[in-house]
Amino acid sequence: MRQPLVAGNWKMNGTRSSIQELLDGVKGGMGEVTTAEVAVCCPHIFLADVQQQLQGSAVAWGGQDISVHESGAYTGETAGGMLAEFGCKYVIIGHSERRSYHGENDQTVAEKFAAARKAGLVPILCVGETLEEREGGITEEVVGRQLDAVVSHCGIDTLAEGVVAYEPVWAIGTGKTATPEQAQDVHAFIRARIAAANSAVGEGMQILYGGSMNAGNAAELLAQADIDGGLIGGASLKAADFLTIAKAANA
Ligand code: PGA
Repeated sequence: MRQPLVAGNWKMNGTRSSIQELLDGVKGGMGEVTTAEVAVCCPHIFLADVQQQLQGSAVAWGGQDISVHESGAYTGETAGGMLAEFGCKYVIIGHSERRSYHGENDQTVAEKFAAARKAGLVPILCVGETLEEREGGITEEVVGRQLDAVVSHCGIDTLAEGVVAYEPVWAIGTGKTATPEQAQDVHAFIRARIAAANSAVGEGMQILYGGSMNAGNAAELLAQADIDGGLIGGASLKAADFLTIAKAANA
């Protein structure tokens, strides 16, 4: 049985006071979240605040990106060891916004996955196709390639130590969610692709859906056989909505 995981991706949002209120709200509602694990991935500048507020609670936290390097002259970057020092459990790897705005290619993403594992963090590997790729009928080719890059660089056993998030780029922040069937199809493809390398790893892999998942559509998406949770952007900025999603993942 795969444990559901609902992870918030705050992206570049929040202030020191707004996140305090948000986390108070999330912590306050955790009593009703019985099965799912809940995590928030915050802007790195807020990590000390988040750690202080969540330490000892049922909510885990993580970063949104990681450097491929361990230390050195890499202005603006955050090393895995630094994320670990602030108590991060998770780190998002290869989010489509990193891939498109920061030129991260499959190789960089694979190196970041390895860097996360080296620092003892659980990577949340994002994969997903653009609208053009979906319309061109190459969704599986694209998602397969993104997965294979990590498996060939890190090995299937290392992939097993992470989480995969399927995030169709056309559904992120657009309010346009994949239908439960569309999402399930790609999730089943991802699981089969991983299972082809190692069936136990495929079976055990947590595969999250991300892309305009919200309090209204979460239950239907999370009811799909191969959807094990969500990576939530906009809706993770409101405690009540985020908790509704986490509760929907309980079942
Ligand atoms: P969204 O973002 O829920 O705002 O669409 C999801 C993500 O980018 O992780």
